[in-house]
Amino acid sequence: MTFRAKHLLGIEPLHPDEITTVLDLADSYVELSRQAKKHSDVLAGLTVINMFFENSTRTQASFEIAGHRLGADVMNMAMQASSIKKGETLIDTALTLNAMHPDLLVVRHPHSGAVNLLAEKVNCAVLNAGDGLHEHPTQALLDALTIRRAKGRLHRLNIAICGDIAHSRVARSNILLLGKMENRIRLIGPPTLMPAQIEEFGVEVYDDMRAGLAGCDVVMMLRLQKERMDGGFIPSQREYYHRYGLDAEKLSHAKPDAIVMHPGPMNRGVEIDGTLADDINRSVIQEQVEMGVAVRMAAMDLLAQNLRNRRREAAA
Ligand code: NCD
Repeated sequence: MTFRAKHLLGIEPLHPDEITTVLDLADSYVELSRQAKKHSDVLAGLTVINMFFENSTRTQASFEIAGHRLGADVMNMAMQASSIKKGETLIDTALTLNAMHPDLLVVRHPHSGAVNLLAEKVNCAVLNAGDGLHEHPTQALLDALTIRRAKGRLHRLNIAICGDIAHSRVARSNILLLGKMENRIRLIGPPTLMPAQIEEFGVEVYDDMRAGLAGCDVVMMLRLQKERMDGGFIPSQREYYHRYGLDAEKLSHAKPDAIVMHPGPMNRGVEIDGTLADDINRSVIQEQVEMGVAVRMAAMDLLAQNLRNRRREAAA
């Protein structure tokens, strides 16, 4: 087995073989999830705690379903209503939870680096479900699985990531993953939404959609993250849609079989045309959600195996 990590905090530390290991296992969990009886007991006896300090619909539901499907005891902490509101620090919360002996901790937090900090303080395996502008590793893995299944490979593809790159941990994790797998990555968006010195990541930068999309195999759209903007990034949503919103005409510049992706939640009519998002011949947005459950099952399974091995070694 080539997955030795103790935690899944980001794509950055992963070796390409580890990425492939997760995706291969996830393929088998796609099959399991399509059965009438979609249950395994690989996490039986283990406790998974979901801690979401930031709102989430699909990611939290996906981790919860993944944990249940593998037979774990899953608990969702309602962080909005927790002691955090009473002034408890992240570390105190972590230590309190640690004393309850969780085996896997799934954390989403609005601050970059908060999940790494927490991982240092607990005895269990930690999965990053998105930290600030930093990383969202399971999103990049589910995107990779979706691409690999649609295109039959995960290397030497032309992949466009479009829109609000600057505020996107999804873009960051995807740039890292798709780069490690030797794809050609183009970032398309207005200069105000492009991080400084991004070319150092080995990507090509465009501010024109038609030029950037030419010859692409994969078109990944990002949500305009209005909650992370303090004004002045775009002239207006109408103007943004006109220049950067994906519609059939702009997509016609990509390859005829190019797939359209979006991590959700979508702003229809802002970064993507609603009809195109629903076009099952082009859009793989629903597949991404399906792959999300499978990838999270695979990641939890691999981390639990490593955890059990470490505990066995410690006891020996
Ligand atoms: C993404 C996130 O939360 O980072 N969504 C998700 O996990 N499905 C992207 C976003 O919020 O736009």
